[in-house]
Amino acid sequence: MILSDMDARPVLFMDSGIGSLPYGVFFHNANKDETLICAADRAHFPYGPKPREALIELLSVLTEKLIDRYNPKILALACNTASVSALKALREQFPRLPIVGTVPAVKPAVQASLTRRVGVLGTERTIEDPYIAELAARYGPDCEITGIAAPSLVEFVERRFALADSTERLLAVKPWVEKFREAGADAVVLGCTHFLLLLEEFKTAAGETMGVYDSLEGVSRRVESFLDAEGGKLRSRCGNRAPPVLAVSGEAPLEPYWTLLADFFGFSLGRI
Ligand code: DGL
Repeated sequence: MILSDMDARPVLFMDSGIGSLPYGVFFHNANKDETLICAADRAHFPYGPKPREALIELLSVLTEKLIDRYNPKILALACNTASVSALKALREQFPRLPIVGTVPAVKPAVQASLTRRVGVLGTERTIEDPYIAELAARYGPDCEITGIAAPSLVEFVERRFALADSTERLLAVKPWVEKFREAGADAVVLGCTHFLLLLEEFKTAAGETMGVYDSLEGVSRRVESFLDAEGGKLRSRCGNRAPPVLAVSGEAPLEPYWTLLADFFGFSLGRI
């Protein structure tokens, strides 16, 4: 291996808040040589209630800042809201930066559903976007989709995740799972990256009779395929062992909670 084959620039996962963490950690566990940055756009959280145009605007400014500050070799939008709203615009604006989007796991869910009823839990913006219906029409046109927006659960994850015990987490998840059960769904798609931090609780609440589907592996694979393309020329092979960075936006001093979160995941804190 010659030194010029190594690309030590970071892989950057971003979200409105802490939703990039489960995706970044999943990727990191299988790709320890890569430098990882998870960006949390605290200044603009939450994305869910914002219109598409506002999201395109703020994500384009944020991406520019992230490029200036961290010079990533790949950007993964670990955010369904950002992906349905701005992926295309960002790819057009930053043609030299490979950008991976998050696609809700509608395909495996509709393929597995026996009741032919599938639930999708996301933000307001994601649920109202025609993209979910397009995915369902492509992979399971006979399937009925129940889309539910859960902004209060996004808020819970963002503010309480590292403080809540397992009982509180399970209680937060249960009412949403019950709504899907009442709708006759036997498969539920976690269509917001924040909810992956409650994956175990979702699985517990769903029990044996309801499958829970997510995009963790899909996003990680997509990032890996960019790294491995053309003989792996974007791969880092320098044995990086620096802790991943949780990079947080916003002018105001960071609340102590961010230190708690970074410690919880074994990240160091950075700024955008
Ligand atoms: N985590 C995000 C998603 O996947 C957005 C949450 C929010 O900021 O509303 O959609």
